[in-house]
Amino acid sequence: MTLDYPAAARARIWQFGASHRKLAQTGGPIVFDSADGCYLMDSTGRRYIDALSGVWVVNAGHGHPDIVKAMSAQANRLGYALSEEGFANTAAVDLARRLCDLVDGFYDRAYFTTGGSESVEIALRMARLYHAARGRPGKRTVISREGSYHGATLFTLGLSSYDIFSQAIGPLPDGLSKTVHPTCADCPLSLRYPECGVLCAHELADTIERLGPDTVAAFIAEPVSTSAGVAVPPPDYWPIIRDICTRYDVLLVADEVVTGIGRCGDVLATRRFGIEADIVALAKALTSGYAPLGAVLTHRDITAGMPANAMLIPGFTFTGHPVACAAASANLDVLCRTEVYDGVHRKSARLEKALRNRLAGRPHVGGIRVFGLLAAIDIAPMPAVRRRRVPGAAELSQLMSGWLLESGLYTRVVEGCVQLGPPLLAPDELMDTIAEHIGAAFDRLAEHLEGSG
Ligand SMILES: Cc1ncc(COP(=O)(O)O)c(C=O)c1O
Repeated sequence: MTLDYPAAARARIWQFGASHRKLAQTGGPIVFDSADGCYLMDSTGRRYIDALSGVWVVNAGHGHPDIVKAMSAQANRLGYALSEEGFANTAAVDLARRLCDLVDGFYDRAYFTTGGSESVEIALRMARLYHAARGRPGKRTVISREGSYHGATLFTLGLSSYDIFSQAIGPLPDGLSKTVHPTCADCPLSLRYPECGVLCAHELADTIERLGPDTVAAFIAEPVSTSAGVAVPPPDYWPIIRDICTRYDVLLVADEVVTGIGRCGDVLATRRFGIEADIVALAKALTSGYAPLGAVLTHRDITAGMPANAMLIPGFTFTGHPVACAAASANLDVLCRTEVYDGVHRKSARLEKALRNRLAGRPHVGGIRVFGLLAAIDIAPMPAVRRRRVPGAAELSQLMSGWLLESGLYTRVVEGCVQLGPPLLAPDELMDTIAEHIGAAFDRLAEHLEGSG
């Protein structure tokens, strides 16, 4: 390619989450140009294993012919039509029906957005409307957890634990409150499971009591939080949370933007913990990234609780986008099948085994956590928790990330935590290859630290 795409990108595209100065120093950004299956190619012709499915998005892998075909057919048939204010389109209706069928009728109506932040925001707007419609307009506060991430809009950033960003952009909306995160690897309450009695879950009841149950609309959380370093809660955490929400008439909103659509070996990760949320926010892998689309699913009790004359305004221009909905329907056909879920469990076990074998005895490896095809490896002694900023974490993360890319593996290393999430249809052997790349990067880290220390 003749154009220097990284330089052109620096000149013409705003980058969030990376400074222009640093990009110029490293010759970045890496500009992706094409992809196939589990591999990404950049503008210079370099090939990378996509070990994060973009960012837990491309669950079906790149270039899946069924999805491409469905999108092309839909673009030919109907590329766009207004799908609000008294209008809908057949692709959106088909997708909504398909999604509701997949979740066994627990959730019986969908609202379509264009991404995760919008899904979270709409889910919480619905929670407030639901209470107001039932004569409890005072129930407006939303509780989230320290260590979580729920999006980049002002409202969703306020729910997230990214103080440096929210302080720079604030003031944040009011009516938001926080409780503790179930991060057993680095317990915020300095306790150990099971002697702790899952106090982190019971803290939610204390937070609701402190705020006043008549003021709290909803509690929002990811079933397993990637931003807290694939923090897998103890098995009794979610049932306790479910009980507390029911007891206080606080809606439980599951942020399944990362964990949904097969990533954890089921259509929703909440099913793996044996609970039903009241509202579910989906996005990312809903189309495997072939088009931007999110969805909010309401439990049949919530749907029934909304008055028939309620108008959910304002909505989005691109709600129910027909081509995105067609991509999602084809994607669900590909992914939401027992054999794919079985494959996720099998590959999850293989990835964990390969990581543990390859990283055994390495001094700079902290915790290894794998849940479905989500994995995190801490660089010791850094806990992968945003509440505690460890000096040097950013620099070491950047070094590790650079070494992994150099070796041909694309993934993210954030706050001293290597994040993984390969496509669900990846061949089983790729799990060993990924572990080998990670192991080699940790070997290089040891050399680097011993050399400098
Ligand atoms: C758990 C979670 N919720 C919400 C979002 C926001 O999604 P989006 O970036 O599509 O707005 C993200 C994004 O990474 C996420 O990880």
